Amino acid sequence: MRALVTGGAGFIGSHVAQTLLERGDDVVVLDSLATGRRENVPGAARFVHGSIADIDSVADAVSGCEVVFHLGALGAVARSVSDPLTSNTTNIEGTLTVLTAARDAGVRRLVFASSSSVYGGSKIIPTPEDAVLAPRSPYAVTKLAGEHYCRVFAELFNIETVRLRYFNVFGPRQRPDSVYAAVIPLFARALLDGVRPTVHGDGLQSRDFTYVSDVVDANLAAATAPSDRCNAQVFNIAGGNQYTLLDLLRELGNLIGVDPNPEFIASRAGDIRHSCADARAAADAFGFGCKVSFSEGLAKTLASF
Ligand SMILES: NC(=O)c1ccc[n+]([C@@H]2O[C@H](COP(=O)([O-])OP(=O)(O)OC[C@H]3O[C@@H](n4cnc5c(N)ncnc54)[C@H](O)[C@@H]3O)[C@@H](O)[C@H]2O)c1
Repeated sequence: MRALVTGGAGFIGSHVAQTLLERGDDVVVLDSLATGRRENVPGAARFVHGSIADIDSVADAVSGCEVVFHLGALGAVARSVSDPLTSNTTNIEGTLTVLTAARDAGVRRLVFASSSSVYGGSKIIPTPEDAVLAPRSPYAVTKLAGEHYCRVFAELFNIETVRLRYFNVFGPRQRPDSVYAAVIPLFARALLDGVRPTVHGDGLQSRDFTYVSDVVDANLAAATAPSDRCNAQVFNIAGGNQYTLLDLLRELGNLIGVDPNPEFIASRAGDIRHSCADARAAADAFGFGCKVSFSEGLAKTLASF
């Protein structure tokens, strides 16, 4: 099949694009390079340099595609707190533009990259998909709005949509070099450079860290699962484990052979305390299950640095 991967120059999207190519699919990547890198785009993919919020760029990229993996977005809660408007334009207008162009091009199915942040720190742990949704950051609002647009398009138009809520994805190509970097590349880079890692809060906040290849597998399975099992539905994608930031530092310290010795500073606005998925729905619908353990994933990530 031919597939469009929006955000395919980014961390997760580039792994999706690469895996599709490896199994013999044709791949088009649409990316503005806002946070992604041109060198992440596999050589065999067609690259369209443009914005997901620009209808002409999206129409060009999506032409002839059967499936869209829509990962293009501005990530990071903190970025959206300091500049909500730009996150809104990219993530909400961008998603609506991609959905509209996909519908008009006759795309069969669109798989949307949503986020555990839509729960806003659920009291129910592990959290099922039908838990209360209470976004606590502009980023989380944009992801929830994108989810609603996906469901509405599946209900109104001749296009199937599947929403996947990722939980703290990590792995090779995740950037450590940004003020908005995720915690695993930040800590790994600091420890490898002999710098004390900075922990916001007490370090006992927990996350359901998920290795990138498991998220790629979920995307591919969601693109081909029978329609009656997944169309217009939403699925948590994670292993259902809880690791605190102190657990993470301990694991990284052991793998690198250093004492993490973190520096503790104030908590960040918009951050949630605990996050852990109940991912049984994805297991039932399309056989999802994490194959890579936390320590195995961390070792692979460190090897890529
Ligand atoms: N990394 C995680 O833990 C995580 C968790 C939940 C959800 N997600 C979602 O997964 C997707 C991929 O995240 P990632 O971690 O790979 O981030 P990333 O920043 O590496 O990738 C996002 C890509 O989107 C591109 N992009 C940004 N604005 C664009 C625009 N206007 N037009 C076209 N492309 C644009 C960026 O250049 C980048 O290549 C995002 O939708 C993100 O919200 C990620």
